[in-house]
Amino acid sequence: MKNVNRRSWLKASMTATAGLFAGGYVNASPDAFQFEELKKKRPSDYYARLSSNENPFGPAASAKKALKAAIEDSFLYPRAYRETLLDTIAEVEGVDKSYILLGAGSSELLHATARVYGGKSSKVLSADPTYFSLVRSAESLGADWVKVPLTKELDHNLGAMESKVTKDISLLYMVNPNNPTGKIMTGTEIRSFCDLVSDKVPVFVDEAYIDYMKDPAGSTTVECVRKGKNIIVAKTFSKVHAFAGLRVGYCIAQPDVIKALTAEGPRNSLSGPSMAAAAASLTDAEFLKYSVKKNDEGKDYVYSELKKLGYDYIPSHTNFILFPIPMDGEDFRKKMMANQVSIKTALIDKQTYCRVSMGTLDDLGMFVDAFKKVASQKLNKA
Ligand SMILES: Cc1ncc(COP(=O)(O)O)c(C=O)c1O
Repeated sequence: MKNVNRRSWLKASMTATAGLFAGGYVNASPDAFQFEELKKKRPSDYYARLSSNENPFGPAASAKKALKAAIEDSFLYPRAYRETLLDTIAEVEGVDKSYILLGAGSSELLHATARVYGGKSSKVLSADPTYFSLVRSAESLGADWVKVPLTKELDHNLGAMESKVTKDISLLYMVNPNNPTGKIMTGTEIRSFCDLVSDKVPVFVDEAYIDYMKDPAGSTTVECVRKGKNIIVAKTFSKVHAFAGLRVGYCIAQPDVIKALTAEGPRNSLSGPSMAAAAASLTDAEFLKYSVKKNDEGKDYVYSELKKLGYDYIPSHTNFILFPIPMDGEDFRKKMMANQVSIKTALIDKQTYCRVSMGTLDDLGMFVDAFKKVASQKLNKA
């Protein structure tokens, strides 16, 4: 019911702002946005979903067109669409197709990796906190998690991580930009670290948010794979391409690693329409620029509102912002939800943080309104 309402409201709000978007990817400034008008059009149970780092500014028109066209071929097994997507990724990433494995979202590839490297008596090393899906998967299969806390500035502690890289470690997992911090290692930093440690242990670099970095091509570790290093690089269409519901991801690794992952994981799990849409989106430079720009607008808006309220925040290289709050996390989350805004919280080194995903400016306006209300109430301290 909620989703239907959300959809019809979205339709209404799109009609209200149709002029702003007419003729391509035009950007609406926060001032031009009719917060009050849009508020009146929301169904009473509408909530701003700012907890899963989704992207409301897509998928691209080119992706939707390809998706619709491919539906006609849905009675066929989708080999041709798979080959086209593999060719497109191979071209964009500068690798042979034998280095690529597709997954229904990168989650499927994270779980396949956990199955290959994370069984009983294995050890998976990662920063703490980071995106824990692979680590939890490996733990559920009997692996131990070796964690290295982030530095005081919430950066990866590469020195401490290197010191933990021993023969016992089955896999080193890194996320760049990191979730939930939104912080980065530069391309040079992470590549020289990976070059060094991957001689000792396999390394998985999760680049889900890399397209939000200033220079994605100069920041990726795919170059290390091209050089022959034992690194698995994962990318997803769920973020900048706005495909969270279409489920497309891929990883790039040495061909023997791709074979091992294939044996444990995804084998033709993607639909033809999803793959057709992904191939279209990957080469749609105009959409990608638009998607990043809309995300930047949201971040600028939230930064300026937090600043006005006297809150610090961590400048983000992703589609979410992490900032410290002087409140108990669960209490805060519930109170935000009571104000129809979903967010996530994190407890890092005894400090509670709010992680808010970038949404439409209207949803972010709801976030700011709710935050002002909740922050001004007396809350139980952690
Ligand atoms: C760092 C990171 N990796 C992977 C994923 C999984 O994304 P998906 O399975 O949609 O590709 C997420 C989702 O938020 C993420 O934050």
